Amino acid sequence: MSFAKVRFAYVGCGFVAQNIHIPNFVSLPECEFIGLAEVQPGLAEQVAGHYGIPRTYASHEEICSDDSIEAVGVSGPYALQGQIARDLLRAGKHVFMEKPMAVSIRQAQSIVDTAKSSGARCMVGYMKRYDAGNLRIKELCDEWRASGEMGRLLLARNHGFGGNWVWAQDPNVRTFVAPSGSVPPPAPDECPEWMPDEARAAYLNYLQQWTHNINLLRFFLDDHEGKARVTSVQLDADGHTGLVVLDVNGTRAVVESAYTRFHAWDEHTQLYFEGGWLQTSAPPLLQKGVPATIEIYRGGSLTTLPMLTREQASPSWAYREEARTFLGLVRSGEAFPSSAQDTLTDVRLCEDIYRIHLGL
Ligand SMILES: NC(=O)c1ccc[n+]([C@@H]2O[C@H](COP(=O)([O-])OP(=O)(O)OC[C@H]3O[C@@H](n4cnc5c(N)ncnc54)[C@H](O)[C@@H]3O)[C@@H](O)[C@H]2O)c1
Repeated sequence: MSFAKVRFAYVGCGFVAQNIHIPNFVSLPECEFIGLAEVQPGLAEQVAGHYGIPRTYASHEEICSDDSIEAVGVSGPYALQGQIARDLLRAGKHVFMEKPMAVSIRQAQSIVDTAKSSGARCMVGYMKRYDAGNLRIKELCDEWRASGEMGRLLLARNHGFGGNWVWAQDPNVRTFVAPSGSVPPPAPDECPEWMPDEARAAYLNYLQQWTHNINLLRFFLDDHEGKARVTSVQLDADGHTGLVVLDVNGTRAVVESAYTRFHAWDEHTQLYFEGGWLQTSAPPLLQKGVPATIEIYRGGSLTTLPMLTREQASPSWAYREEARTFLGLVRSGEAFPSSAQDTLTDVRLCEDIYRIHLGL
């Protein structure tokens, strides 16, 4: 059976849009890429000209009133893109948006409510959930838990020490910059009302970076009902270096966070069972065609030897798989795996982490 292409537009022509999402959506056969919106004058026109995208818009509001568009991608400034997404959902457009979906529980809830009342749906760009290596680890974790062959799941830990996230960036992708011109002032953000002004920048930084890691742990540990909770927080005064312990579905899950000068992207997740462990290590994020590398350790017994194996999933790029999934699920009407409803929990956890960190 063949499906009609998804009539698609995109909001924001910044780095992520130009280096990741626009080239992906433009090249997917399921997508009819109709237009680009950007508030910096002259930028959308350059990018649209380069990719042969027919229409440009001066802001996302013009897309809201374009009836020919059914689905929209969004990568705006991270404290403001929730407002953009909510406007698009209110106008009935299905939305694929970058993380963080929202900067407060209040805003996250209003996005979920808007989607419910308009009937439009929102998927959040947690690309790690579409990475073929991570999906293989999820499959093995489910198998080990269901069979009990490796005993109890003792600990999940995500090590996210950052590094150079653009390492291995494709030099053939052109990044256009706006000709100088006036840019409208940003709207006020919707950070939690209890957040002290002096903590706001560090909170937004923690939220936009480690929301990925928290969401991935919840994915591996099946927190479908959004019951994960924060049990302990040890962050330095910089607001991001340290350890956070969560309870996710009854399993202790640790987030190790820092920024180091690693040349590529220093991130892995390890799931420890009594009888062995599963590990997935992130590839350089912009390296196309390379999924996470996975390791499987089976501790053996009196009759079998311990075994460490390393698997490589087929070549694929998590961001491209995420875009393909979005288009497919818009068309089929099935639920998005990384939905706005699911993301509500990540935003709640980040607010809770900061309440504890600040002693409020
Ligand atoms: N998933 C990932 O791995 C990953 C990595 C980096 C960044 N991100 C996320 O991507 C988002 C964008 O990051 P970036 O580095 O591209 O930012 P950026 O600042 O380069 O781009 C944002 C663009 O949106 C435009 N914009 C703002 N308001 C607009 C509106 N109302 N209508 C149209 N355009 C508007 C801005 O002018 C700017 O060009 C951030 O939210 C960030 O959290 C995700």
